[in-house]
Parts: sequence; structure tokens; C-alpha cells
Amino acid sequence: MTKTISLKKPANLPRHLAIIMDGNGRWARKRYMPRIMGHRQGAKAVKEIVTAVRELNIPYLTLYAFSKENWSRPREEVEALMDLLYDYLKREIDELLGNRIRLRAIGELDRLPPRVSTLLFETMEKTAKNYEMQLILALSYGSRSEIAEAAKRIAQKCIRGELSPADIDEKLFASFLYTADIPDPDLIIRTSGEQRLSNFLLYQAAYSEFYMTKTLWPDFDKKELLKALHDFSRRERRFGKTSEQIYLKCTGSES
Ligand code: FPP
Repeated sequence: MTKTISLKKPANLPRHLAIIMDGNGRWARKRYMPRIMGHRQGAKAVKEIVTAVRELNIPYLTLYAFSKENWSRPREEVEALMDLLYDYLKREIDELLGNRIRLRAIGELDRLPPRVSTLLFETMEKTAKNYEMQLILALSYGSRSEIAEAAKRIAQKCIRGELSPADIDEKLFASFLYTADIPDPDLIIRTSGEQRLSNFLLYQAAYSEFYMTKTLWPDFDKKELLKALHDFSRRERRFGKTSEQIYLKCTGSES
């Protein structure tokens, strides 16, 4: 028996939703199409999901759009992905402004082709004052190098005497990451049936909930999103505490 999906807004929504968009290539292969067609369809899914997340009033959405490792894909595929990103930014600027969505990007942005990075920075600037939602694109992003880079900058500050090693704690370390002023993701969705993080938000995901679906990214629509969000809504997040402690906190009977 197939379970029906409630289209109602779930009771508990994540404040920060992050998505590993996977399966574009397989979507295309199933249809005997070139991989780029999968990415093109994937860009349409991006639009649908951004709209749905905005409607649901989820304030932060991070999309893993291009990893550092993706640079080693065939040149034509990398170029096609950069073109898609460029087209997306060109096409969606009015939509972002109209819906008061701030666009941000995390990753080694200086590696992006100049025309893409110029448009990206322009879009970030134009939308910088928007506050209703933040759409964060992870581009040329790798979590291990983000962490190594943070460690390097902290070490440099220590050498210059601007920081003492005794000051280094989890909070300070997090403030040196790309995501310094962004809350940790509450929910990370990965499409296409793979069950790994692939160098995505390793530090930030310490207490994230995970939702893996076999649905390929180009097929991931609002209905699929709501399914994931309802699943998240039912979960008990304990952050290392016991169920009883969480219950007492919710009922306000905690001493
Ligand atoms: C992973 O699928 C997907 C990517 C590497 C690129 C994601 C890009 C988009 C969704 C479109 C452009 C993005 C924006 C923000 C407009 P895969 O190619 O690894 O799929 P496979 O594992 O089936 O081969």
C-alpha cells in the first residue's frame, strides 16, 4: 500500500534546509539523453524547490550545486554546468528580488569563470538587503578545505598575537568557516539513493538530521519536499540529551 503524502505544512520545519542534489546524470541516462539534459532538468527542479521553500517560510536553503571535486569532470560538462548557473542567475534575479530572497554563495568562488563570478557577485550585491530567505549556493565547495583554511587563518592570527590558542573553541572555529553567520543545517536531504555527505558541510552537520530519497534530483518536486519535511517534523532531536529531558523542556516542567 502506498502512503499518501500530506500536502499540508508540517508542524516543525527546519530553520536551515540543505540539499545534496544528485542524480541528474542518471535521470538523463534513463532517457538515453546526454548528461547535460539531466542538469538542465535539475535547474528546473532548483526553481521549483526555491519557490516552495520560500512559500513555506524556511529562512535558509543551501544547495550543493558544484563541488570542488566536480572540476575534474569532462570539460564540456563543467562548461555546461557553468552556463546553467549563469542562465539561472540571469533569469531569476527578478524572482529573487520580488520574493525578498538574498542570494549567497560559499566555496572557492575565485575559481569560477569570470563571467559567472561577476554575475554572481552582482546578484549577491543586488539581493544583499533581502531578509525573508537566504538562498546559499555551494559552488566549487569542499568542506575539508573550508576547515583546513579556517585552521590556517586561526593559526596566522595566533602567530600575529591577535588570538590566543586558549580562545579557540567550537564557536570561534565556526566563525572562521564560510557559514559563520548561518545557522547549522537542521535537515540535509540527499537525492538519488546515495547515502554519503560527499565533503558537504562536515563541521556544520554535527547535529543535522538526514533524509535520503531514491528520487533523482530532476524529479524532486514540491510533493517530494513535503514528504521529506513531514518526515523531519516527526523526528525527535535530542542533541545528546534523553527523551525525558526533551519532553520536560517542551512542557516547560524543566527545573
Ligand atoms: C549531481 O548529479 C549534480 C551536479 C553535480 C550538479 C547540480 C546542478 C544542477 C542541479 C543544475 C544547475 C544548478 C543551479 C543552481 C542552477 P550527477 O551529475 O552527479 O548525477 P549522477 O550521479 O546521476 O551522474
